[in-house]
Amino acid sequence: MQISVIGCGYLGAVHAAGLAAMGHDVIGVDQDVQKIELLARSIPSFHEPGLAELLRDGVRGSLRFTTDIAAVADCRVHFVCVGTPQRAGGEYAADLSFVDAALEGLLPYLLPDAVVVGKSTVPVGTAERLGRRLHEARPGPVIAWNPEFLREGHAVDDTLHPDRIVVGLPEGDREEAVACLREVYAAPLAAGVPFLVTDLATAELVKVAANSFLATKISFINAMAELCEVTGADVTQLADAIGYDARIGRRFLDAGLGFGGGCLPKDIRAFMARAGELGIDQALTFLREVDSINKRRRVRMVDLARAECGGSVVGRRIAVLGAAFKPHSDDVRDSPALNVAAQLQLQGAEVVVTDPCAVDNARDRWPDLKYAHSPEEAVADAELVMVLTEWPEYVALDPVAMGDLVRHRRILDGRNALDPARWRGAGWTYRALGRARA
Ligand code: UDX
Repeated sequence: MQISVIGCGYLGAVHAAGLAAMGHDVIGVDQDVQKIELLARSIPSFHEPGLAELLRDGVRGSLRFTTDIAAVADCRVHFVCVGTPQRAGGEYAADLSFVDAALEGLLPYLLPDAVVVGKSTVPVGTAERLGRRLHEARPGPVIAWNPEFLREGHAVDDTLHPDRIVVGLPEGDREEAVACLREVYAAPLAAGVPFLVTDLATAELVKVAANSFLATKISFINAMAELCEVTGADVTQLADAIGYDARIGRRFLDAGLGFGGGCLPKDIRAFMARAGELGIDQALTFLREVDSINKRRRVRMVDLARAECGGSVVGRRIAVLGAAFKPHSDDVRDSPALNVAAQLQLQGAEVVVTDPCAVDNARDRWPDLKYAHSPEEAVADAELVMVLTEWPEYVALDPVAMGDLVRHRRILDGRNALDPARWRGAGWTYRALGRARA
């Protein structure tokens, strides 16, 4: 099929490459000339394992990138993959201007049987509004909503092998649009991936409900960590023990610095804002608590660092291992690690940050922090080492060799990722969120 992807950021670039790998003719469109030039040369503007290879295979075959929206005129299906950031000025609601502009841009080029498929995460009710606008301007084409669940760091696999495909459609005759989208996703459907057809509102809600659930699960275990800290219990053992209950499950019960990134924090805030607009804010009041627990973890980490440094961090050399919001990503948006590093620096510490991938992005955001190219360089002469993003290479560090480089063998594990016995065995003072001091 001939398919367009409007917006070639994280979601769009991966989706366009994924559709090409599924055998379609794909044209990716973005206003950002530099981004398009890079993508046309198979270079993603962010770190994502496997994406460069997928782009390379696509660009050699049926995948093209352009800044010219008119190039989509022969496409039957158009995926809208533009961003919906948190509004500027501290507001919680999502900024929908890019979604609106994408639809307006497409209108002159739609075939009579076109399907405009929204993939961006939007407040419930947006698809219906866009559908009305579409119908008013062009009576033939239809709107659909097909939320995306990809995780950064696993985006290629999540796109090629999704665990479900959800398609929301307006009331009325849905058969043609369903058949069209089944053709788009023929490859994963042949592999047995569940395909759920819903109304538009349900499809929009699926995405924010899933992200809210995941955020709640993380904040739940982090609230337990707060209790563990005052009772002397161990949150990692607690998570293992409750996780064996199949109704609970162990995944997303890793206690530590909490969630960050470009999705979870902004999505739960936009969801609360939307509930307020709908007059049912009480239904989501618990998400405010989820957000507060999450933010408290960062403050607690800074407090722990201060305590480890004897009550003040002024002039203390602190090595921070990790800047990305999670491993296998160079994304520092709302990164808990970088937030803690910045708070410590503002409190007078001499902070040196390192990360395998995210140093450039971190430097753009926090130019005043010091950066190092390796953990060895970062920890040189450090009075405190903090592991704030659980990159496998940090988890595998040798405590004996590291011990020779630092001034004091003191380590704070912000992700409960290290083996305390190994570090303590090598003479380190090891502390973590939600675990008793040894
Ligand atoms: C998330 C959703 O998982 C994905 O389905 C959606 O499409 C986009 O938002 P992502 O932001 O890539 O994906 O990251 P995710 O793997 O969900 O992690 C989010 C944050 O939670 C990270 O900061 C991570 O470190 C943290 N986290 C995750 C925990 O603190 N504990 C856990 O047990 C799991």
